[in-house]
This record gives sequence, C-alpha cells and structure tokens, in this order.
Amino acid sequence: SALSAADEVNSLLASYPDFPLDGIVFRDLNPVFANAAAFRAMIDALVGRFQGRFDAVAGIEARGFLLAAAIGYAADVAVLAVRKGGKLPGAVLTEEYDLEYGSARLELELGQLPAGSRVLIVDDVLATGGTIAATMRLIERAGYALTGVGVVLELEELDGRSRLGNADVHAIVAL
Ligand code: PRP
Ligand code: ADE
Repeated sequence: SALSAADEVNSLLASYPDFPLDGIVFRDLNPVFANAAAFRAMIDALVGRFQGRFDAVAGIEARGFLLAAAIGYAADVAVLAVRKGGKLPGAVLTEEYDLEYGSARLELELGQLPAGSRVLIVDDVLATGGTIAATMRLIERAGYALTGVGVVLELEELDGRSRLGNADVHAIVAL
C-alpha cells in the first residue's frame, strides 16, 4: 500500500553535515522529488491540507518553484513566482531577509492577482523562517490574503515558526 507523505519524506531525505558552511546540516530533498510516488504523496498532502482555501499558490525561488507548479496544477489555481532580487521586470515589491547561511532579497511582481486573492505560500524547508517571513510581508503588501504556509520539512531547533506570527503553518515532516 502507498506510504504516507511523511513516511516517504522521512525515508528519502538526505543530510549533509557542514554544507554549504561549517556547522550547517544541509537537508537534501532532491531524493523525494526524484521518486514519483513520494513526489505525488507530498503534493497531494499539501493540497489536501489547504483544500478549497486558496486561489493561488506562491512558490519561493528556487526549490519552492517545484512544489508550487505541481500544487497549482493539482488544485487548479494560479501560480506566483517569488524571486530572488533583481530578476523580475516592471513594478515589484522587495523584502530583505536573513538566512541560516547569508542574507538576500525576495521580490514579487505587482498586478498578478485580484485584490484579496487567497494565497498559499510553499517552500521546501522552513529553517530560521526568514525566507517565509519575507514572503508573507510581500503577500500582505501586495493586497492578498494569506491562507497559510506549507513546507515539506521544518527544522524545529531553528524555531522558524516563531517568526511567522499566527499563520497556519503545515510541515509534512518536522525534525
Ligand atoms: C533555502 C530553502 C528555503 C530557505 C529556508 O533556500 O529552500 O527557501 O533556504 O531558510 P530560512 O527558513 O532560514 O529562511 P535558499 O535560500 O538556500 O535558496 P535556493 O532554494 O535558491 O537554494
Ligand atoms: N535552508 C535553510 N537551511 C537549510 C538546511 N539546513 N537544509 C536545507 N535547506 C535549508
């Protein structure tokens, strides 16, 4: 019988000590994406958790794009690409944020959805929460309503959830 999404992720995820910097344990989800049954289970779990409550899904560059495209197709909703700084043309909103290993900028192109659209944010990993917190600010500043946040993996020791206010956050697996 089919494994649950959590069982698939737990059995396939890989861990790399001291990548990309000393002291970081990098969690690699590529083996989950590379397994068709696991990928389907992961997408179905995220769609099911927020079913009927979102008009669009926002994926965060780069690994969140893989999830957002599949979720948008499966749920028949719009897809937004939240990109790293300097990649989007026209009128954009910008947010700066800190990372577990560095800092960066995220941007959202204006005028993609009707005001008040309900948006689900997705990414592969919730670590310190800086990336998703910045994306939440972009969604709010754009005039959209945040449905919630879906991630494949939450790294609990970094307490990222505490930076996401009262958002409805779902992680398939928490480590
Ligand atoms: C990783 C990951 C998340 C983010 C989580 O992306 O895919 O987006 O870090 O970290 P945080 O919770 O501490 O903010 P990264 O910035 O490495 O970019 P990439 O997807 O382009 O590799
Ligand atoms: N993004 C931020 N921290 C990470 C980690 N430890 N593993 C994978 N992706 C990450």
